Amino acid sequence: MTKVRAAITGIHGWAPEYILTNEELERMVDTSDEWIISRTGIRERHILKGEGKGTSDIGAEAVKGLLKKTNTSPEEIDLLILATVTPDMLFPASSNIICDKVGIKNAWSFDINAACSGFLFALNTAAKFIESGQYKKVVLVGADKMSSITDYTDRTTCILFGDAGGAVLLEPNTDGYGVMDTKNYTDGSGRIYLYQTAGGSVKPPSHETIDAHEHFIHQEGQQVFKFAVKGMADVSVEMMERNNLTSDSIAYLVPHQANLRIIDATARRMGLDPEKVMINIQRYGNTTNGTIPMCLHEWEHKLKKGDNLILAAFGGGFTWGAAYVKWAYDPA
Ligand code: UT7
Repeated sequence: MTKVRAAITGIHGWAPEYILTNEELERMVDTSDEWIISRTGIRERHILKGEGKGTSDIGAEAVKGLLKKTNTSPEEIDLLILATVTPDMLFPASSNIICDKVGIKNAWSFDINAACSGFLFALNTAAKFIESGQYKKVVLVGADKMSSITDYTDRTTCILFGDAGGAVLLEPNTDGYGVMDTKNYTDGSGRIYLYQTAGGSVKPPSHETIDAHEHFIHQEGQQVFKFAVKGMADVSVEMMERNNLTSDSIAYLVPHQANLRIIDATARRMGLDPEKVMINIQRYGNTTNGTIPMCLHEWEHKLKKGDNLILAAFGGGFTWGAAYVKWAYDPA
């Protein structure tokens, strides 16, 4: 029997208009363009402005573009999964809200929270619904409004994050294209290095939590860096070895964009030349669940049917993982 795989048959990304530059950050906190570029590779990031705007608005823009590009009507979608750490609110799930905003009515939907690895955890999950034969059209969205949990008085984190998202359409493929292999990991002991203290059930919002800036990202940068370099490189090399891939047979590494130095270290361990690595961190910063789909969106015109891609991420939790995807279509 021919194996059914989940093929990505379309991609669309979206970032809000407003651009927050390193120069503007220099006026907000004690930092410099030189420090930010040399330590992270980031030059600017996009920020979603406007009262009442949230992650579902980013996701809805990405999904609208995806449906248009792939000539798909909202009624055809069976399932929508959103990977995010910045839902519009704790509940209902923002995936539900995206469906409502774009007119997806014959589907069910849910959110996945795996911090920066969410898009890969959700890709693994979404692929199973296609491989099992249960569904024919699954939309996977990775989106975050990181500015909503960023403390713009904390120079160690506010220079890193931005807002953006992307969406892919997954459909069954029996010709050997699509999600070939996935591997995900979690290690909850890493939760002490990257977290948001308050707003959940342990520490509900109070005047005290707000005064203490506990509704923002807290990160022990150096610790996370150490684990990220090892975790992302190890799992990417593991994915190559499990599938007998060489640096020559890989078309692109599609890495989570947290720090240019982490991306470079991963590419080096994989033996990849720089032109085989998707990098747009300089223009978007770390958009958490938006990074991988935004890369696919910007490189779509270069991707050819049969290209071997390794998607890799590391993030809070800790969570990390990689996916091996055989690209299923040529540029339009
Ligand atoms: O996506 C989720 C996973 N997250 C990651 O993968 C992020 C991993 N971590 C990192 O990318 C890096 O650790 C950072 C970019 C966050 C920080 O870079 P670093 O090279 O690890 O810097 P550091 O934290 O060791 O700080 C070095 C110095 C410190 O000063 P002292 O103690 O040496 O005097 C900091 O106070 O740089 C200082 N510093 C800054 N200086 C100017 C920290 N932030 C800034 C800043 N501007 N924005």
